[in-house]
Amino acid sequence: MTNSGFPRRAALTFLVCVLPALVVLARAEVVPSIKGAPAAFTAECSSCHVAFAPFLTGKANWRGIMAGLDKHYGVDASLDSKTQSEISAWLLANAATSARQAAASPEFRITRSDWFIRKHDEVSASVWKRASIKSAANCTACHSGAARGDFGEDGVRIPK
Ligand code: HEC
Ligand code: HEC
Repeated sequence: MTNSGFPRRAALTFLVCVLPALVVLARAEVVPSIKGAPAAFTAECSSCHVAFAPFLTGKANWRGIMAGLDKHYGVDASLDSKTQSEISAWLLANAATSARQAAASPEFRITRSDWFIRKHDEVSASVWKRASIKSAANCTACHSGAARGDFGEDGVRIPK
């Protein structure tokens, strides 16, 4: 049998060109991020908790959070000044604008905003304390699309 070069070349093309592209695509799929987010935001703001979408709160809270990263809810989340400015600019440009959602809240927390408390009034105090949830800031526990900034009803499931 003559050994045709074609299948081998095709296999090689697949390995060298197609496979890496597929791997990149698959990766893009498994690391969800907020649409339009700078890579620095996804990298730096999602290592300890889900990266909170900018539209979840207003400029006042984002300014407060970004100005206090060295004392960030009991941890040091400080960044070099270039990265900090880049992330701040993007958060402020995409912050909530409606008065209700943009209002400042205690500790600059999304979870202590009036709108957040109202939207979650059906979640009882004992549910928030479940080991599978622990904190209201753990959006991903109940919102499967949180990392993409999707908080629609379809993605809500409260864990046991
Ligand atoms: C070293 C870990 C760490 C990093 C990095 C980090 N955070 Fe946090 N963040 C925390 C902790 C801990 C809390 C408190 C969580 C809780 O109460 O359950 C928190 C809370 C928050 C909250 C308030 C959540 C609420 O209750 O509404 C916001 C907003 C926030 N972080 C934004 C950011 C942003 C923006 C960045 C990137 C610049 C960032 N975080 C990076 C650890 C971190
Ligand atoms: C204990 C589970 C739980 C956690 C944790 C949780 N949520 Fe929710 N969330 C819900 C439930 C239940 C609803 C109401 C679902 C509905 O009726 O649309 C809701 C509704 C919402 C809505 C309104 C959606 C709409 O279409 O009106 C937003 C926005 C939201 N959550 C954001 C967040 C954010 C941001 C976090 C984290 C900081 C968070 N949630 C944490 C359970 C949770």
